[in-house]
Amino acid sequence: MTQAVETAPAPTLEERVLRDPGRFRVLTGDRPTGPLHLGHYFGTLRNRVRLQNLGVEVFVLLADYQVLTDRDVAENLGRHVEEQVLDYLAVGIDPARSTVFAHSAVPALNQLMLPFLSLVSVAELHRNPTVKDEIAHSRQSAVSGLMLTYPVHQAADILSCKAGLVPVGQDQLPHLELTRTIARRFNERYGGGGGGAAGGAGVGGGVGTGAGVFPVPEALLSSAPLLLGTDGGKMSKSRGNAIALGASPDETARLLRGARTDADRHITYDPANRPEVSSLLLLAALCSGRTPEEIAAETGAAGAAALKRTVTEAVNEYLAPIRARRAEYAADRAHLRRVLAEGNERARAVAETTLAEVRAAMGSDYR
Ligand code: TRP
Repeated sequence: MTQAVETAPAPTLEERVLRDPGRFRVLTGDRPTGPLHLGHYFGTLRNRVRLQNLGVEVFVLLADYQVLTDRDVAENLGRHVEEQVLDYLAVGIDPARSTVFAHSAVPALNQLMLPFLSLVSVAELHRNPTVKDEIAHSRQSAVSGLMLTYPVHQAADILSCKAGLVPVGQDQLPHLELTRTIARRFNERYGGGGGGAAGGAGVGGGVGTGAGVFPVPEALLSSAPLLLGTDGGKMSKSRGNAIALGASPDETARLLRGARTDADRHITYDPANRPEVSSLLLLAALCSGRTPEEIAAETGAAGAAALKRTVTEAVNEYLAPIRARRAEYAADRAHLRRVLAEGNERARAVAETTLAEVRAAMGSDYR
């Protein structure tokens, strides 16, 4: 006796966010190791600003402790932190609506690391493919304890503010999976059963509701296409192949003039066979709101030099307002420090509330 049941397809995460943005709290962030660049912008920054403007509550993290995973001394950390705040403000992160903070400034967040470490096995830590890759490329002679355990600290970042949504790239998925595992295990072990409700902000759904202490966060995978660096490799701060958001128009022109292309003079959009040329076309397209195919057709036999001029113009035009805002904010360092101080304050308040719940759940709320 079967009955036809009309079921609408389950709404996608994106649809759920659009339907009720106020239900979601997002946390994501970056290691302050150098200027943010176009790869960051089209990969994630732009999306953070979009979410913020939709009414999602956004926490943006300066992962300053995480910098220590791959270098013995975090050089110029203070300057990188300030520059990163500058980049955030320039692209449209609004400190009146979003919380910009550094995780080293939030003791309660860091304290979560300890119970969380007790919830994962050493074997699990060793299996993390992103960590394995970082160890393989590490500039340190020995693998530090932090290198192996920073994904647990990342879970503390996310769970300290009970973020339900974490916009990330592919390489961060193992960390998010670990965060989900930690949230579930904590809830099972201390929360009196029941996994946290997935997807919600966790705000309002805390201890005593039976939902467990932590929401189980979801990854919001970036749908942005990957931009290559000017050398054809992954665009990266450390490879000198990236166009920083704060770079001058001349510097941008110089970098793009030197960009790698290929021997085929006729420009076509063919990401599989012509990755460098196609990435330039993609960049021009992202900056001008057109399609890479259109720009390829238009450039055609004019060749790589013409393409590079087109890209340079598109990038400089697109970044002009961002750079203008950046210069304005750069002139007021006291304001930058205030933005961070206020963000830290907010993050501390949220993390302290979470830690109090954790202590209560663990039965360690005696004094
Ligand atoms: N690991 C991230 C990176 O290298 C930075 C990061 C730290 C992060 N904590 C996070 C990202 C929490 C998302 C959520 O880019």
